[in-house]
Amino acid sequence: MQVVDNLSALDRAKFGPIALVPTMGALHEGHARLIRQARTLTDAVLVSIFINPLQFENPSDLEKYPRTPEADSEKAEQAGAEVLWRPRYEEVYPRTIALQEVGAVASLYEGAARKGHFQGMLTVVKRLFDLVDPKWAIFGEKDFQQLFLVRRMVQDLELDIEIVAVPTVRESDGLAISSRNIRLSPNDRQVALVIWRALANASRMESIESMQNALDATLARESGFKRDYAVIIDEEDFSLATDDTKAKRALIAGWVNGVRLIDNMPMIGLAR
Ligand code: PAF
Repeated sequence: MQVVDNLSALDRAKFGPIALVPTMGALHEGHARLIRQARTLTDAVLVSIFINPLQFENPSDLEKYPRTPEADSEKAEQAGAEVLWRPRYEEVYPRTIALQEVGAVASLYEGAARKGHFQGMLTVVKRLFDLVDPKWAIFGEKDFQQLFLVRRMVQDLELDIEIVAVPTVRESDGLAISSRNIRLSPNDRQVALVIWRALANASRMESIESMQNALDATLARESGFKRDYAVIIDEEDFSLATDDTKAKRALIAGWVNGVRLIDNMPMIGLAR
C-alpha cells in the first residue's frame, strides 16, 4: 500500500478506474468492510483520511475526534487498500470554500440535530470526488441520511460516479459498529442495545402503525436511552412512510450517557 499526503505523488497512469473509500480515520471493522467491498470492484482502492472541519458543529468535537494514524494504516492495508491518502487542509480547500447546495432533506433528523453538518459533509465529498475522479465511491448504510444526500448530489450534478452502499456492520449482539462505541461503558453498551431491539421488533411487524408502536414501546422501556427521533421513512425521499411505501426504513437516534448514537434498518420483516 502506498501512503501519500498529496495526490500529485501518485502515478495515476499505473491505476485503472479508482474506487474511493472516504473516511475521517479511526478506522474500525465497518470501514474494513467498505474497503473489502471496494476491492471486489477493482484493485485500485484509494482510502482517504481527512477530518473535515466543515462538518463539525463545534470546535471541541473536532478537537476530540479520535486520531489513530498508525492503526489506520495497518487496518487499511489489511483490508486491501492500494493507496492511503491523507490530504492536508490546503489540498482539499485551496481557495475560498464554495459550500455545496443541500436540499430540504439535509435539515431533517441528523441535519436538525447537527446544524450545517450535511452541508460540510457534502462540500468535502464533492471536493474529494473532484480531486480523485473515482469510478466508484463506497459509503456505509449506517449513516443512511448521508448516503441518501450523497446519492442525491451525484444525481443533481450528473456526476459519473457509482455510489456503492454497504450494509451496517454489527457486533454479534446487534450493536451497530461505530467509532463512538469506545466511549460507552459496559453498562452504557447494554443500554445502547435497546436501539437494535427496537429496530428488530419493528421489522417483525406488518403495518406502519405497528412498526412505529414497536419502536416507541421498546425504546420507552429503557430509561437510560434519551431518544431524539425514531421514525419510519420512505427511502426514496425521506418522507414519512405509509403502508403503501415500497422501501421503508426505520431510523433511530438518541443519547446514552452523553454519547449520541444512530442506527437504521430496512423494514422488510428481516427478523421475522
Ligand atoms: O462518514 C464519514 O466518515 C464522513 O462523513 C465522510 C463521508 C468521510 C466525509 O467527511
